[in-house]
Amino acid sequence: MNSNQVVLITGSSTGFGRLFALTLARKGHTVFATMRDPGGRNAKNSSEIRALAEKDSLPIYVLELDVTDDVSVERAVDATVAKAGRIDVAINNAGYALSGLAEAVTTEQAQRLMDTNFFGPVRINRVVLPHMRRQRSGVLMHISSGAGRIVGPSMGFYSASKFALEALAESYSYELASQGIESVIVQPGPYETPVIGNMVTAADEARTNTYGAVKQIPAKINAALSSMAGNAQEVADAVLRIIETPAGEKQLRYLVSPETFGVDQINALSKQVQANLLEGLGLAADIKFLKGKAVASV
Ligand SMILES: NC(=O)c1ccc[n+]([C@@H]2O[C@H](COP(=O)([O-])OP(=O)(O)OC[C@H]3O[C@@H](n4cnc5c(N)ncnc54)[C@H](OP(=O)(O)O)[C@@H]3O)[C@@H](O)[C@H]2O)c1
Repeated sequence: MNSNQVVLITGSSTGFGRLFALTLARKGHTVFATMRDPGGRNAKNSSEIRALAEKDSLPIYVLELDVTDDVSVERAVDATVAKAGRIDVAINNAGYALSGLAEAVTTEQAQRLMDTNFFGPVRINRVVLPHMRRQRSGVLMHISSGAGRIVGPSMGFYSASKFALEALAESYSYELASQGIESVIVQPGPYETPVIGNMVTAADEARTNTYGAVKQIPAKINAALSSMAGNAQEVADAVLRIIETPAGEKQLRYLVSPETFGVDQINALSKQVQANLLEGLGLAADIKFLKGKAVASV
């Protein structure tokens, strides 16, 4: 892989996505900072990013991409490959949180969440993989969450979307390693971004109101998470380090968090259990990934 990589990022209008774009471009990586509606609802965000790119001569291109829209995903990936000739890293970052008691989340809210947080990466990966396969290199990066491993009350659907993402990303890591393509998971803990302000709340208030004191839990959790939130640049710096880690030496999971809550222990145990599973299924020899250097650091 070239030292200067071509990186497509979803959800670059604000928060982590925007920081990833600026941090990677400042190190010379060519960044396609994608977002919904850069000429409309994100006009201010897109022009701020373009202005910074121009001021500091950063290789950042802003493109429209809505992860819930197949045509939009294809158009953005095609434009990236047409401009840069390749795509080295796809960062599946677009996502949002849904907070509230599970019974009060409508089916439509749950479907919309999965369409962004889970099917968004499904769409991106399916469109970028043929390009990566041609190159015989590439990185699928998945911005999960500590909540992709642990569950709190009022976080059930958000956790479900990130658990689903983790399962898919892990499966990809086994299936793609022999073709030189890596799948990695980043698990941020709480960090200061607009995520809490952009959080969707459970719509069925009548159901929520039947829960007595329990209905205060979502607000308590959001306040606790906000109070422990770290500086989001830590996550951007971690993403830069991961991308610059040589092919074959990346871990499957990276926990980046001001507070681990023991997620690191779950990751360590899961690594062992997964190795046992693959061994038990007689697959260890089939999956190059398991025999290579990478297995030591999964
Ligand atoms: N901050 C944290 O504490 C934290 C912790 C763990 C994980 N995360 C994860 O980090 C990722 C980024 O979140 P953030 O904290 O940076 O919050 P954020 O500032 O709210 O960023 C979310 C981004 O996702 C975009 N997005 C939402 N739906 C989209 C769609 N259909 N298509 C394309 N883009 C879409 C938003 O774009 P618009 O401007 O168009 O809405 C925005 O750019 C999310 O996956 C989140 O779950 C955050």
